[in-house]
Amino acid sequence: MLSNEQIVEDVLEYWWEKGEDVKAVILVGGEGTRLRPLTFNTPKSMVPILNRPFLEHMIEYLKGHAINDIILALCYRPDHIQRYFGDGSKFGVKLTYVVEDPPLGTAGAVKNLEEHLDETFFVFNGDIFTDLDLTAMMKFHRGEGSKVSIALTPVEDPTTYGVVETNAEGKVKRFIEKPSPDAATTNMINAGAYIVEPDVLSHIPKGLNFTFERGLFPLLLERGVPVYGYQSDAYWIDIGTPESYLKLHHDLLMGRVAKGFPGERAGEGIWVEEGCDIHPQAELKGPIIIGRNCVIGSRAQVKGPSVIGQGCRIGKGCLIDEAIVWQNTCLGQGVSLRRCVVAENVFIGDRSRVMEGCVLGDNVVVGPDEKLTRGTKL
Ligand code: GTP
Repeated sequence: MLSNEQIVEDVLEYWWEKGEDVKAVILVGGEGTRLRPLTFNTPKSMVPILNRPFLEHMIEYLKGHAINDIILALCYRPDHIQRYFGDGSKFGVKLTYVVEDPPLGTAGAVKNLEEHLDETFFVFNGDIFTDLDLTAMMKFHRGEGSKVSIALTPVEDPTTYGVVETNAEGKVKRFIEKPSPDAATTNMINAGAYIVEPDVLSHIPKGLNFTFERGLFPLLLERGVPVYGYQSDAYWIDIGTPESYLKLHHDLLMGRVAKGFPGERAGEGIWVEEGCDIHPQAELKGPIIIGRNCVIGSRAQVKGPSVIGQGCRIGKGCLIDEAIVWQNTCLGQGVSLRRCVVAENVFIGDRSRVMEGCVLGDNVVVGPDEKLTRGTKL
């Protein structure tokens, strides 16, 4: 006789191998206000990470866990995403799009695409980068007989997050929003990745703005529905702010998360894509990635961790030090960038300096000899 545990294992393995049955919903409808000005034209899930849209990395991650059937819940700037990914076949997955107008909140968005969901499914915030083991999380979910399992990740300072208190088996006891240091009984926060049973959707009101965090989860606890927290110390970051956007690049380039880089290896930690014209007297210090068709002038210095998008022009004597530059941006001569993000089609005049923490949105023009002080956003 097989034990219940073995049966669960067997079913799960069979189900997982079949692959096509496991669906994932990715929530990509938010306006991404905290990441402005980078998100004025570009939805948060399309901001480049190592010169590819964030969502492409997410899709690759799901594919790595045999999840090939993905539903995208869109709202803000949906065309941008649909144009790039099409039906998903170029990326080896099947994509279904459901567009909301007006936005329905994280749980309302899932309710809105209920007709596509009749088996246990995953939901992901479309701004988290993680190497969470989804197979292990599914085993946990099945093993506990959970209706909703929430991935939990530890943070150093839980006082600015919603923390999730669980018992020894992982069953959620309480959600505490932004606890004071004395009230913080745990540093485990909601990582924005869930496994949900389809019957849970009956608890979400249709057509109303409703969130998982403040709406559905507390309601499920009140109604005695079993909700579990799956604790993991896997790599996790949400790219919701310019600081965390830079931090993800830093971590990827410094090798804190395993990830292949685009382009040819042109030296220690230096990756250059095709068609670049790099002056022999330019100085490159990895880890850096330089996108296609860039021109880098003489005595320019590029110091890692940095990324330069395709089609950029970096003038003579520029200094790029721990900066992320999007495509088709042009730096005059002697420009310096330090620990900042510069979006696409930006022009920066000769000798201007962009200091730490600055964020320049698309199409910004900075004249010569300007100094953008720490933290400037344009
Ligand atoms: P901020 O404005 O900076 O808070 O960002 P945001 O609008 O993206 O909100 P938040 O970071 O809380 O959202 C978490 C995830 O849910 C993101 O991937 C959002 O795109 C997504 N999201 C938030 N609200 C909605 C919504 O109403 N509909 C859909 N489809 N997705 C949403």
